[in-house]
Order: sequence, then C-alpha cells, then structure tokens
Amino acid sequence: MVYSKIASFLAIASALFMTSYGASSVGCGKDLPPSQQPPGGPSHKTDFNQTDGTARIYRIHIPSNYTKDTPVPLIFSFHGHGDTAKHQEDLSQFSNESFNPNAIAVYPQGLKDAWQGAPYAKPGVNDIGFVQDMIDYFSSRYCIDTTRIYAAGKSNGGGFTSTLACSPTLSKQIAAIAPVSGAFYIPISSPDDCSPATIPIPCNISRSPIPIIEFHGSADKVISYDGGYQDGDCLPSIPHWVREWSKRDGYGASNKTTDLHHGKVQKYEYGGGKGNLGVVTHYLTQGLGHAWPSTLPNSDNPNGTYFDATPIIIDFFNKYTL
Ligand SMILES: *[C@@H]1O[C@H](CO)[C@@H](O)[C@H](O)[C@H]1NC(C)=O
Ligand SMILES: *[C@@H]1O[C@H](CO)[C@@H](O)[C@H](O)[C@H]1NC(C)=O
Ligand SMILES: *[C@@H]1O[C@H](CO)[C@@H](O)[C@H](O)[C@H]1NC(C)=O
Ligand SMILES: *[C@@H]1O[C@H](CO)[C@@H](O)[C@H](O)[C@H]1NC(C)=O
Ligand SMILES: *[C@@H]1O[C@H](CO)[C@@H](O)[C@H](O)[C@H]1NC(C)=O
Ligand SMILES: *[C@@H]1O[C@H](CO)[C@@H](O)[C@H](O)[C@H]1NC(C)=O
Repeated sequence: MVYSKIASFLAIASALFMTSYGASSVGCGKDLPPSQQPPGGPSHKTDFNQTDGTARIYRIHIPSNYTKDTPVPLIFSFHGHGDTAKHQEDLSQFSNESFNPNAIAVYPQGLKDAWQGAPYAKPGVNDIGFVQDMIDYFSSRYCIDTTRIYAAGKSNGGGFTSTLACSPTLSKQIAAIAPVSGAFYIPISSPDDCSPATIPIPCNISRSPIPIIEFHGSADKVISYDGGYQDGDCLPSIPHWVREWSKRDGYGASNKTTDLHHGKVQKYEYGGGKGNLGVVTHYLTQGLGHAWPSTLPNSDNPNGTYFDATPIIIDFFNKYTL
C-alpha cells in the first residue's frame, strides 16, 4: 500500500518533470570532446562507425550557448542525391544561430552520396541503423532532450526523413520531420503500376500522430509536384503523399488552405477537425524549382524566393515533442 502510493507519487512527479524540462540524456554532465571546444563556430567533420562496422562521416554543429547541463534539441539535416554534408549545412542553415539558436545540428554523409529507400542508394547500406546508432551515441555523449529529436532533408534526404518516420523503431524516437522537395520513391514491379495520385504508400508507424511539414515548388523539374515513374520506381504526387500522411496520423484528407505572398505560396494545413490544425502542413511555392526556399540567393536558387523555409521548420519543430 505504502509502496504503491510512493510509486504513484514518483510516477506523477516524473511525468511533471518530463513535461516541464523534457528528458535529459545520459550524456548530460559530460564535457564536450576537446576538438569541439569551445561550442559554436563552424561544424566539425567527424568519423563514426555503425554498429555493423560500416565507416561513416557526419558534420556536427554545437550551438555557442551549449552547456553540458542543459538538454538541447537535436536536428538531423540530410543532403540530396549526389550532394555533401557540407553543402547541406550551407543550404539548410541549421548551423546559422539567427535561425537555430539552441539545437545541435548534424549533417550525415550518405554512402555513394545517397540514402536508403531510393532506387540509386548503395545496396545493403543500413542508413536507418546509421541514424539509430547516431541517436544512441549523441544521447550518450551530449546533453540532448530525447523528446526533441528531429529530421529535415532535401530531395532524396527529404524522402529519407519519411523513411525514418515510417520505421517502427525510429517513428518512436523522432518527434517531427521536415522534407524539402522530397523524393518519396515507392518500389513497383512495372511502370504500369505507377498511378501517382492513388498509389498505396508503404509505411509502418508505431506512434501517431507524427508531425510533418513538407515544402515543394510547382516548377520542380527533378522531383515533379505531380509525381510519376522515375528511376524504376514511382513518385507519388505531393498532394497524395501529404494527404496519406494526414490520414495515417488520424486526420482525414481535408485541409485549410491559406494564400500567402499574394497568392504565390499556398499553405495547406491538415488535422483541423481534431483541434490539431497543422500537425501535417504543406507549403506549395508557385514557380519555384527543386529548391530549399530562401529569401537570400542560395546554391539551389540564385534569385531567392518569397520566404525562408528554415525558420518555419524551426518554429514547427519547437511546437512538437515526443
Ligand atoms: C572505426 O573502426 C576502425 C576499424 O575497426 C578503427 O580503426 C577506427 O578507429 C574506428 N573509428 C571510430 C571513430 O571509432
Ligand atoms: C544567417 O541567416 C541570416 C538571415 O538570413 C543571414 O543574414 C546571415 O548571412 C546568415 N549567416 C550565415 C553565416 O550564413
Ligand atoms: C541560448 O539558448 C536558449 C535556450 O536554451 C535560446 O532560447 C537562446 O536563444 C540561445 N541564445 C543564443 C544567443 O543563441
Ligand atoms: C512494414 O512491415 C512489413 C511487415 O513486417 C515489412 O514487410 C515492410 O518492409 C515494412 N515497410 C516499411 C516501409 O518499413
Ligand atoms: C485542399 O483543400 C481544397 C478544398 O477542399 C482542395 O481543393 C485541395 O485540393 C486541397 N489541397 C491539398 C494539397 O490537399
Ligand atoms: C532568375 O531570374 C532571372 C532574371 O529574372 C531569370 O532569367 C532566371 O531564369 C531566374 N532563375 C531561376 C532559377 O529562377
């Protein structure tokens, strides 16, 4: 009797603690690796071995106000096919403290510069395992709030964030995802099986809802907004892909549409019927190509566009914890 009272007191106390302060990882209290001191500044290129022995590389940015006793969020940012971790850091700007003042940002490098799930990915590479190993390692080495681990990515890297969210194990560890110009390849046995607006999307979530924000340009010539047969696989249309996520998250297909930037940008928010408007959100930018939206010119787009995706992603991530 006394024990059960103590146990329930502890359960309530720890629930309150979790709500107020998040979950500290076992890395809290450990000094930064000497090569990463002081915090802040450029990212550090780091060698890493997967538990299956595969040698990998990532870049890590430690925020300048990081202290070993304060749990911080962790954001992964995955590059597109043929691209590099360094370029993804420049493109996605998660190391820019005017956008991201306090999360650790990690830019992993794909083998053959690609990610699991795409038809051109290096066969046999377990990138889901790589991410699991990094989460385990970062949690043991840095002071991470394990309820605030997020994944963003461009193109093949965006598609990979969805592969992570569809994994039974990682869907329970990643709080929200943000694919940009995502390539969501679905294996098919014949080109005739590719109907982009209706094709079933394989996915095994073990948590719901999983918050998702997707950005796409109407003039994307690499990963078409309308989807289609590509590289031997099927790309779903982006509206179909987003609506399927909304349904999987328990919300149905209807959205609230908001015109932004004089109608050049549409924001579609799903989940309104259950008081969770925007848990699934999609931005369509008229006339934009295969680009990470940025007002300043970036390597994707020399002209810049109507808005910056990165601070919108940061605000979205800040709304959702496990
Ligand atoms: C990875 O494994 C190799 C070979 O076993 C070893 O030489 C290397 O030090 C390891 N690297 C890291 C970062 O642990
Ligand atoms: C960080 O972002 C701000 C706002 O877009 C920009 O003015 C600044 O140049 C960026 N800093 C770096 C180092 O790119
Ligand atoms: C330092 O971290 C806090 C939260 O831990 C954040 O709100 C703040 O903006 C950060 N300050 C700077 C200058 O990065
Ligand atoms: C989902 O689970 C089924 C059955 O275990 C498996 O065959 C399939 O590969 C999984 N799909 C994904 C996308 O994880
Ligand atoms: C959003 O809702 C409108 C109105 O029902 C519909 O016409 C449109 O196709 C929907 N868009 C997406 C991307 O789901
Ligand atoms: C950038 O703007 C110039 C001048 O308006 C135009 O010719 C060019 O096609 C634009 N480039 C892109 C990538 O939109």
